[in-house]
Amino acid sequence: MKGLILSGGAGTRLRPITHTSAKQLVPIANKPILFYGIEDMAEAGITDIGIIVGDTGEEIRAAVGDGSRFGVRVTYLPQDAPRGLAHCVLIARDFLGDDDFVMYLGDNMLEQGLTEFVANFEASRANGGGAAAQILLKPVDNPSSFGVAEVDAAGEVVRLVEKPKDPPSNLALVGVYLFDTTVHTAVRSIAPSPRGELEITDAIQWLLSNGHRVRHEVLEGWWIDTGKKDPLLECNRLVLDTVETRIDGDVDEASVVEGRVVVEAGARLERSRVRGPAVIGAGTVLRDSYVGPYSSVAEGCELTDTEIENSVLLQNCRITGVHRLADSLIGRDTEVHRSGQRPTATRLLLGDHSVVDLA
Ligand code: G1P
Repeated sequence: MKGLILSGGAGTRLRPITHTSAKQLVPIANKPILFYGIEDMAEAGITDIGIIVGDTGEEIRAAVGDGSRFGVRVTYLPQDAPRGLAHCVLIARDFLGDDDFVMYLGDNMLEQGLTEFVANFEASRANGGGAAAQILLKPVDNPSSFGVAEVDAAGEVVRLVEKPKDPPSNLALVGVYLFDTTVHTAVRSIAPSPRGELEITDAIQWLLSNGHRVRHEVLEGWWIDTGKKDPLLECNRLVLDTVETRIDGDVDEASVVEGRVVVEAGARLERSRVRGPAVIGAGTVLRDSYVGPYSSVAEGCELTDTEIENSVLLQNCRITGVHRLADSLIGRDTEVHRSGQRPTATRLLLGDHSVVDLA
């Protein structure tokens, strides 16, 4: 079994952050989204992983390396333009060979791991279940934003449609799929969709139309397609809910840490208060500041006379005199300060290298 992680894509729904960096590297609880997927694969025993990369390939290579820190071997597979998820399978043909593989969208996060998903597919094949593919489904309120599956009374998948105006069910296709070699014929047989992409949903529909069985499981835990700010903040909240307290940095006598909080080595709290769940990255300094629940502050940030909550700050942000910053996603090397005195709440989505004066 091999792994294929899709980390091309322009991330247009997460601009301006994605003007300068890959959406798959935006941190959740201070760890890039992509790393969670790699770790899930490693845990399921998948050690040979291909990563499809596009314009942000260099940054992804720098972050992931050869995969040895995750106990896996990574092969990078460049895609010239975002031509669809099925196109990724097409260009990964040589890498995949004749192995079964798990395909994982690099911006999807799942509560549950992959171990059971993979084991169930293998068990069903050993029993002569004969599925050519396995998909994961999740009931959602807005099925039109996803691929949607129709399941018949006998519990078999009978139809799949990509982003239908009139959805046949509320069962969305989660961005994790399992395939055998039959999919290679499928991706060569389909035509581009109205959005001009080779859709994996159409490839799986091709399997059904050509008499192949598609097994499915309905996901129990949470699943988030992190490609937009609010789902990303929600995902950050869900992951922070699982952190355990660990204080490796310095907390001075005038500072207070409440609830489940991680303070990484080299971080410093001076006359500040952190209410968990929250994580404070290595080398970050808080002065006369308050970091409220569900906040992730990355490495090398400086918060002075500032209050934040329910926000994600990327590396090397400097925030001064802001009371308070809520529900925000702030890019790297960003500077936000308030020179005036108006105590209002502020909600921001800022790209890397921004400078904002909230006077
Ligand atoms: C893609 C798939 C869609 C699936 C979704 C899951 O959508 O095309 O079928 O439900 O991922 O995140 P996209 O993110 O390309 O719009």
